[in-house]
Amino acid sequence: MRSFVVIGQRATASPDFLIGDLPGTSGRLDVLLRCLRAALLVSHGVRRDTTAYFVLLGGPRAPRTLRVDGKVAEYLRPDERALATLVKKALATAPGGTAFGAAKHGLAVADGGIDAVLADLGEVTPYILDEGAADVRDGPLDTRRPAFFVGDHLGFDDLTRARLASIGATPIGLGPVSVHADDAIAIVTNEVDRRAQASG
Ligand SMILES: C[S@@+](CC[C@H](N)C(=O)[O-])C[C@H]1O[C@@H](n2cnc3c(N)ncnc32)[C@H](O)[C@@H]1O
Repeated sequence: MRSFVVIGQRATASPDFLIGDLPGTSGRLDVLLRCLRAALLVSHGVRRDTTAYFVLLGGPRAPRTLRVDGKVAEYLRPDERALATLVKKALATAPGGTAFGAAKHGLAVADGGIDAVLADLGEVTPYILDEGAADVRDGPLDTRRPAFFVGDHLGFDDLTRARLASIGATPIGLGPVSVHADDAIAIVTNEVDRRAQASG
């Protein structure tokens, strides 16, 4: 089982954004949708062993968190517009509450931010993807139950960094260049794929 947690510092927690103008109306939810694709979709399929969380810290209904469970997800397509429509519906119809409500098509929403995620994750090995940290290729990596925390286009806010430090998240770097969040997910996913295959 793999988990990804993307922190959307401005990404809207309410469904009132325009599908036709995501970057301009959603607090850059488009960045998170690309992360969704990178975390969960492969060529012609869904990674059934992966769950992705999107912490939505923008807009009047924040904080809320969207969870997409690859094990049961349906209708996930690689294009941003289709994903935006799915997410908009989930944000509009989710029952309120601090636990992840009944999931429709594998999407569920909880009121709350990173603490709602930590309560849901269970036992995992937490990693924070961080530019400048020790290179992932130079150290051990849990391929059984890793949880990777990823910043959005703004990186991580101080509160999130402090919370991740408090749970002992290990910082890992992915090379000398700061890449987009979805590319960071693709790189670390590839690393886990290779190591999992090598260890049988
Ligand atoms: C576009 S980057 C954030 C850039 C932001 N301006 C900053 O300075 O933090 C988005 C996220 O991808 C991950 N990331 C990007 N490049 C990385 C790298 N070389 N090593 C580790 N993580 C990286 C980090 O989690 C980062 O917060």
